[in-house]
Amino acid sequence: MIVAVDGPAASGKGTIAKAIARKFELPYMDTGLLYRAAALNLLQSGGDPESEFAAARACDISQIDFDDPELKSEGVGGVASRISGYPLVRNALLERQRHFAARPGGAVLDGRDIGTVIAPDADVKLFVTATPEVRANRRFEELKRMGLHVTFDDVLIDIRARDARDQGRETAPLVMAEDAVLLDTTTLGVEAAIAEAIAAVERSTAANDA
Ligand code: DC
Repeated sequence: MIVAVDGPAASGKGTIAKAIARKFELPYMDTGLLYRAAALNLLQSGGDPESEFAAARACDISQIDFDDPELKSEGVGGVASRISGYPLVRNALLERQRHFAARPGGAVLDGRDIGTVIAPDADVKLFVTATPEVRANRRFEELKRMGLHVTFDDVLIDIRARDARDQGRETAPLVMAEDAVLLDTTTLGVEAAIAEAIAAVERSTAANDA
């Protein structure tokens, strides 16, 4: 079974995708980490995020330590969002994701274009979202816990900018697949969101089997 989980920044899609992977004993890939790894590589090598060629070269991420906490930083996330609009970058990272999705027994992947581009034939597609204010608040609380000094307004501006870039790019924009199940987590706690997601997967697989 292939499960595609897409959605905007801080929608809760990562937490939900991981919980689905655990529940159904499937391998999990956070595809945003690939774009973040390329962004970090680019920054560390002093490359220019405005150059599509420099960004494409940074997609050789074989030397990146995926446990590096810097990958999760807002700065790296912002550059990841910028370079993810380049077709050369998306092409360079495509095969690795398709290969993972095609693992025997299936997989869970989360990102922006899993249900539309990476695995359009996925057995289950979820589109996880929440209002920008709620997503910004979650990210704000998370950054505060990490000891970072940020304001809610700055985080909200950042979330809106990221949404506009991820939705507005020409190649593989963030858009809900026609056959995806919409999961709005605006008023849901973590456990309730996970329970709804698992129920949606079970409903979809039952319908596919019928
Ligand atoms: O999910 P995330 O915040 O870690 O992703 C960082 C950026 O990477 C995101 O703003 C856009 C890009 N991305 C993408 O374009 N396609 C994906 N499948 C995953 C992430």
